[in-house]
Amino acid sequence: MEKPPILSIRNLTKNFGGLVAVDNVDLDIYPGEVLALLGDNGAGKSTLIKCVSGVHSHNSGSITFQGEEVRFSSPIDARNRGIETIYQDLALANNLDVASNVFLGREKEKKYLGGLVRSLDDEFMRDCSAEALKSLHVELPSLRSPIETLSGGQRQAVAIARAVYWDAGLMIMDEPTNNLGVPEQKKVLELINTLRERGVPVILISHNLPDVFAVADRLAVMHRGRKVTEKKISETNSEEVVQYMVGALDDTRETEMAG
Ligand SMILES: Nc1ncnc2c1ncn2[C@@H]1O[C@H](COP(=O)(O)OP(=O)(O)O)[C@@H](O)[C@H]1O
Ligand SMILES: [Mg+2]
Repeated sequence: MEKPPILSIRNLTKNFGGLVAVDNVDLDIYPGEVLALLGDNGAGKSTLIKCVSGVHSHNSGSITFQGEEVRFSSPIDARNRGIETIYQDLALANNLDVASNVFLGREKEKKYLGGLVRSLDDEFMRDCSAEALKSLHVELPSLRSPIETLSGGQRQAVAIARAVYWDAGLMIMDEPTNNLGVPEQKKVLELINTLRERGVPVILISHNLPDVFAVADRLAVMHRGRKVTEKKISETNSEEVVQYMVGALDDTRETEMAG
């Protein structure tokens, strides 16, 4: 028996003026799975996940997370509810150090003199961040250096450590291996596997099909805003997926023709 989905998207539509970026999409993600979201540039992948992560507000349809219908007012709102997102242009504060990023928006304070004086508990935040990174087998040169001095892969690791530390219910990664060297791409894929082992479901947007076939359990393909197919990785292959991505195959169209 299948467990209920962590996230259920139903009839979701998002317009930008006259442009329908996401067109009536249904999508479910289950506990402990890695779901790849594929499609050509402009297919609507980023817009869809930005509706889930509180960047955009959808025009119609619904999003149900952990059994409750949600509509987040901001990315912080979504994050506080347990949805961590790594965007193409990472949501980290580049001038802050690693620990500050792990605790961004949720800083730990310490109080003196019966609460009259407050300051940030840097030591606590650094220890917890170090612990989270260690549990992921990630080594960074220093937790005190600003994020901007880290490599792309190290920044991904910090974002993932944040998700692990805060016990995220869902991790969304939009093109996480873009602009990374090969060893760092490998590390990010390992981290995705670690998240799955810990039961954190992952939505992975990627145009790198070998990555997708290496790490995902299931995939969904979008074309011009619509979801055109959804398949288990074991039931498809790259050639077929490309056919869906370019619009040559479309399960919804076949249903229409059959009906
Ligand atoms: N903020 C925006 N304002 C207007 N149009 C947008 C915006 N974001 C995306 N779009 C448009 O929506 C469509 C889907 O874009 P996007 O979701 O970024 O696709 P993908 O991530 O699959 O490449 C594209 O036509 C894009 O130009
Ligand atoms: Mg995109």
